[in-house]
Parts: sequence; C-alpha cells; structure tokens
Amino acid sequence: MDPILCASHICKSFIGVRALNNIDITINAGEIHCLVGENGCGKSTFVKCISGVYEPDEGSIEINGRVYQSLTPVEAMKNGIQVIYQDLSLFQHMTVAENIAISKLKFEGNRIIDWKQVKSIAKEQLDKIGVQMDLDKTVGETSMANRQMVAICRALAQDAKILFMDEPTTALTKTEVGHLMKIMLELKKQGLAIVFISHKLDEVFTVADKITIFRNGNKIGDFESKDLNEKSLSYYMTGREIEYQRYHRVCKDNDPILEIDNLTRTGQYENVSMSVRPGDIIGLTGLLGSGRTELAMSLFGLNPPKSGVIKVEGRVTDISSPMAAKKCGIALLPEDRFNQGLFIERKIKENISSALINSICKKGIVNKKKENEIAHKYVDELKVRTPSVDTVVGTLSGGNQQKVVIGKWIATKPKVFIMDTPTVGIDVGSKSEIYEQIHKFADSGMAIIFISDEIQEIMANCNRVFILRNGQCVKKLEEEDLGQNGAEKMIADLISSRVPEVSAEEAAQ
Ligand SMILES: Nc1ncnc2c1ncn2[C@@H]1O[C@H](COP(=O)(O)OP(=O)(O)OP(=O)(O)O)[C@@H](O)[C@H]1O
Ligand SMILES: [Mg+2]
Repeated sequence: MDPILCASHICKSFIGVRALNNIDITINAGEIHCLVGENGCGKSTFVKCISGVYEPDEGSIEINGRVYQSLTPVEAMKNGIQVIYQDLSLFQHMTVAENIAISKLKFEGNRIIDWKQVKSIAKEQLDKIGVQMDLDKTVGETSMANRQMVAICRALAQDAKILFMDEPTTALTKTEVGHLMKIMLELKKQGLAIVFISHKLDEVFTVADKITIFRNGNKIGDFESKDLNEKSLSYYMTGREIEYQRYHRVCKDNDPILEIDNLTRTGQYENVSMSVRPGDIIGLTGLLGSGRTELAMSLFGLNPPKSGVIKVEGRVTDISSPMAAKKCGIALLPEDRFNQGLFIERKIKENISSALINSICKKGIVNKKKENEIAHKYVDELKVRTPSVDTVVGTLSGGNQQKVVIGKWIATKPKVFIMDTPTVGIDVGSKSEIYEQIHKFADSGMAIIFISDEIQEIMANCNRVFILRNGQCVKKLEEEDLGQNGAEKMIADLISSRVPEVSAEEAAQ
C-alpha cells in the first residue's frame, strides 16, 4: 500500500488538557483506516490538526512529498484532504447540485456560475457513488442519509484523496448505515483513503482495514482489523474488560406513574397504549421514522397528540408544554442534544443547573455554592472527562457533552425519564457506566423510557419492550419474553421491514 499521509509526533494541548501526545499515524491510499477510543481521547482533535483547523504544538505532517509543521485549511484541501463533520456543514437552502459543486467552483475562482456545469459536476460525483438524487431539491428537503451523500460528493468534487468522516453514522438508520458502508468500500476500491470514526464497533469491523486505538491522547497501537475483535478492541480502548449487566426490576411499587391509552397523532403514531411503573425501564424501539421520537416529544409536551389519554399518577393530565411535563416529573433527553439539549457557550455547571434553576435561585440570584455542588455531583457520577465544572461545554468532546445533558436532567430527579437514544456517540466503556447509573435510578423508583435501535442495549437494560413500526406498536414484550432464546432476533426482524421467520408451531396456530 502507498502511504499518502504521514503524521509524526503530533502533540496538541488545550488549557488544562493534553489532547494529543506524540501521535504517529500513516494513512495509505485505498484503505479504510478507523480511529477508535473513548470519548475525549483525541480523535476529533487529530482530524482537526491534519485538516488545518488546529495548529499542532509539535510534530509534522508529510503529504505529497512535502513536510508541513501545520497546514492551513486551504493547503489541506489543495492536498486532497477533505473532512465530513457530523453536522455536515451544508447550505440548507441551496440545492443538492449547488451544494456539491459550490466549493469546487469557488476554489477554481469562477466568478460567473455556469448552471449547466453545476449540474454536470453534481451528476458526475453522484454517479461515482452510484446514487441518484433530485439535483434541484434543497438540501433542507432531503433526508439525513441523502445529505450525507451530498457531503461525500462535495468532497469528491474537490478531488479528495483522503476523506475523514467523524462519526458519520449517528443520525442514520441501520439500512442507511449499510448503504453508506457500501459506498465507502466502493470509494476505497477507486483508490481513496478513508479515515472513519465511530463508537459502533460492528461498523468499524465491517469496513476497517486498519484500526488505530487512542487512549487519553496517546496512541495505544495500529492494528490490522483482522487481528482484533470487539472484546480485544474494547479492552485496548478502556484498559478493562467490558461486560453489560442485564437489568431486573426490583422495585415493589406497582402503581403506574404514567399511563397512556390509545394515544394517536395521525401520520406519526397511532393507538399506542402503555403503563409505566416505578422501576420500569421500558425499551421503545423501532427505526428512525417509526414514530418513537414523535411519541417521546408528545409525552414531554412538545408535539400534542390528536387523541387518546395521558394519566400521571392515576390522574388524567394535559401535557401541553415542557413546563407542564416538568411539573409532572417528566424529563426528556432529546434526540438532537446539540441543538435542543445544551447551551453550548455556557459552562458545564450552568448547563447542569439550568433545568432546576428555580430551586437554586433566590430573588433572581443564583446560589453559586449549590450550583457548584450539583455540578460536581453529576460530573463525578457520570464521569464527565473535563478539567473542571467551569469548562465551557462547547470545548468538551462529543460524548462528554452528552453526559452533561444526561446530568442536567437527572439533577431534576424526574419520576419518568424519557431518554431518546442516550448512548449514541458514547464509547463502550462510558456506555457501561451510563447503563449502571440508569439501573441505579430505576432501582430507586425512577421510571425510564429508553429509546434505542441497538438491540443488544435494549436487551441488557429493559424489563419491557415496545416495538414500533410505521407508527404502530407491533409487539410488546414482557420480562419473561425477553429471557427467551431468539428474543433478540425476533426484535431485529420486527424492527426492520423483514418478515420474521415463523416457527412450524407458530405457523400451525
Ligand atoms: N477547542 C478546545 N478547547 C479546549 N479543549 C478542547 C478543545 N477541543 C477539544 N478539547 C479537549 O481535548 C480532548 C480531546 O477531545 P476530542 O474532541 O478530540 O475527543 P474525541 O476522541 O473526538 O471524543 P468523542 O468520542 O467524545 O467525540 C477533550 O478532553 C476535549 O475536552
Ligand atoms: Mg469526537
């Protein structure tokens, strides 16, 4: 394999944090190279050092026969380095074709736009990845998966030689992830180098040729993908063996906290009924678009149902706003945490205390001592990796930002905590810590509605499971059903559109 980029001895520190310590990485053409490691171990910082967003404190980058101490973003692009960040950085109001072609044309210094050329550039790139798309639609009107394709094509249009993809799969359905992986493998065949970051180890093993493992800003090693498995990889990442403990409800209180009866919002979900007791961890599963997030939003007063009844502690309740939901003891960890869950420019302590600001505020003045105490408690409990509670949330790594949102809502001590995909973007080690915490909260009488499409985590953490498909509840599973052989596969079949295999006995019934 031909080395296309050699990073040597890269070091980068921020105030109070050594984010990268002497990192050497060689990237080869025609290879998919995965970077893995716990939240905050330095993966995104490495990408930013290579692409010219950050200037490394030490080290060098060799590319196309030249050695740079640091690259500017333009130099990086001229050398064929392209990065697709999680937010994709697309122009929502411009068309698919414009988004794909604009950077190339701008780069070439064109002052007059030839619209035919815009479309032909876009079409050529889409052809490269074998995708058809309406070129005249605005990006805002297309699905998340299609936006991802637009971002890839924009990079290809600029002659990408190395494509960095920092957690590109977090907002995609399983089918879409499969499609993306196929495209990555095709691009690799065409000679592109891809650097891929994901916390989902099954994805890593599907595509990786090489895997570089980071821990705490250090490189643990470079491995051929075939020399690792999920267990050994998790061990190298965290320094310990990870095992997820299965949850069993121990709470004795059987009076439901939350009941919903035939709740319907036509076009989103229909006739959903469920009864939630203290200590229940209810798995709500189904793919993106199954109605699960819309239902969660309705229970938090953000998406009023058209019909049906919600009862809180036995009383019919109209949850018409998040304020009303909060008063009833309902909290929501939103799916889109970056936009809906955090004040990104404020400190950790201000974020954590924000949902209970009324209780720590007197005559408009925040009790700083209490604010600090609360922030320390949840930063410690959730093991947020940060130099201090005074750190601005926007400078934390993606996974640690998520832990801050969880801490913020847990601090309100909700009776019912709806968690929409709480572990997306969280590393395997922190996941097990978050699961442990969730089990503790449930043991102490909190009820949890746990939304996820990761079947293993649903199986390990939930004592009851509701499966939604196209807005309908297609199956309810109780604790005894979940203990049966084949439960995992049945859930997988029901979630996807595949028809579940039916046993001879069932068929005869
Ligand atoms: N602009 C910044 N200012 C201060 N600290 C920063 C900044 N960017 C990153 N850091 C710190 O550097 C460390 C590495 O962060 P980085 O974002 O690279 O982690 P990561 O491996 O990508 O984690 P994740 O898996 O959670 O995305 C973290 O401790 C983070 O808080
Ligand atoms: Mg990151």
